[in-house]
Amino acid sequence: MSEKYVPAVGNEEALQNLIGWAEKYRSDNGHAPMAFLHSYGCQQNVSDGEKIKGMLSKIGYDFTEDTDYAQLILLNTCAVRENAEDRVFGNIGNFKKLKENSKDLIIGICGCMAQQKHVADKIKESYRQVDLVFGTFAYNELYSMLWEVISKHRRLFNQSEVCTEIDEGMTQLRDDKFRAFVPIMYGCNNFCTYCIVPYVRGRERSRKPEAVLAEVKSLIEQGYKEITLLGQNVNSYAYGFPQLLRDIDKMEGKFRIRFMSSHPKDATRELIDTIIDSEHICKHLHLPVQAGSDRVLKAMNRRYTVEKYMEMINYARGRMPHFSFTTDLIVGFPGESYEEFCQTKELIKRVKYDNIYSFVYSRRSGTPAAEMEDNISDKQKGLWLRELLLEQREITSEWFGRFVGNTVEVLVDGEGRTGEGWLTGKNDENIIVEFPADKKYIGEFVKVRIIKAMNWALEGEIITE
Ligand code: SAM
Ligand code: SF4
Ligand code: F3S
Repeated sequence: MSEKYVPAVGNEEALQNLIGWAEKYRSDNGHAPMAFLHSYGCQQNVSDGEKIKGMLSKIGYDFTEDTDYAQLILLNTCAVRENAEDRVFGNIGNFKKLKENSKDLIIGICGCMAQQKHVADKIKESYRQVDLVFGTFAYNELYSMLWEVISKHRRLFNQSEVCTEIDEGMTQLRDDKFRAFVPIMYGCNNFCTYCIVPYVRGRERSRKPEAVLAEVKSLIEQGYKEITLLGQNVNSYAYGFPQLLRDIDKMEGKFRIRFMSSHPKDATRELIDTIIDSEHICKHLHLPVQAGSDRVLKAMNRRYTVEKYMEMINYARGRMPHFSFTTDLIVGFPGESYEEFCQTKELIKRVKYDNIYSFVYSRRSGTPAAEMEDNISDKQKGLWLRELLLEQREITSEWFGRFVGNTVEVLVDGEGRTGEGWLTGKNDENIIVEFPADKKYIGEFVKVRIIKAMNWALEGEIITE
């Protein structure tokens, strides 16, 4: 139903037209046109959102956190689970009134949800307040799409699946002043049977190491202190991931490197050695296991067994006993029995994760698992999830105890949850650390002596003065 989009005006010409339009808007209204952009989902999506913000700012848009003041509302969406999609539809519904009050308001939906034709068709039919719907392949065409919507007052739908070259020239407006995301690859080739990502993000495309290294170097020179390399499976980075890490580690400066995600089927001892032997790479690996039963892992098409997974954990802990692992888990995959779910509970006890990100299985239409028989109710799966979280809470409280009495380095994020005068940050292992100190330390590395382990964070006292 969504016809192919052919831009009427090329991107460069459209950008010039938009700049002229924004200047006129500013002189007519006494302020720049305002954009509201919200990114849902994973860090990759947040990073895409920062690129879109960069493009909008080139046009002359300023940004607002309040949709009431926006001339452009853009929701950069996630399709990974049904509740993520429901939230977006709820928001679009709320924008109906705004659109009725301001005919010039432009409402756009982009990102992973918007890549799916059935979603674009639903919006076309039932959400007439939306003007622009474009998927993850279309960012490079943003200027020509926006110009067409503004100049012709038409609705536009672009679900192109044509993989354009990775645009290295794209400027981005980063949300954070001391932490930055750097995508090293896009897309996914793995087709885990439950997952929508390969369908909405296309096949793997790796950025050239020269481009990644230049970006990281420039970020460090600008004073960024934590850089997170992104990809759905960084271990299949086409030019060798451990080598890329080693090249970054050689750079001068005081900074941290993190990365995600790492698919266990491609994780190697070389990767673990590279992390442990490095100066700047955090001693933490997010290694999503998804399930603790070999039968379920096979049905998920994960292509590793629990034993192969444990080999990697044991190798790392053999070299560094306190090495930190976190993971993603799916509860209630179609056909999973309670006994198989209990194997997941066993696995988290064996590994001793610092944290788990666990989700009730969500049926994604178009994926193989959506066709599999599923006899367990969502309510039951919710109870299993609770059981898993309670188990993990105990593991966390106990396992965090390894830090008590130690001094750790913390990159301070902002004000803490504990109370007035407290700050919060993360240690090398990506664990929240809270401590009382002056706000001047926000954005800085500080040394904190840990005095207490809780089930969500560590508590300490600053020893940098
Ligand atoms: N590429 C990463 C990997 O394979 O490790 C994962 C990226 S995915 C965006 C993040 C997490 O969402 C997955 O690890 C999985 O636990 C969860 N997830 C993906 N599809 C899901 C589904 N249909 N239902 C529930 N959780 C899902
Ligand atoms: Fe989804 Fe699997 Fe790809 Fe991760 S590796 S994005 S879970 S298909
Ligand atoms: Fe990320 Fe969600 Fe897309 S997790 S890749 S934004 S489907």
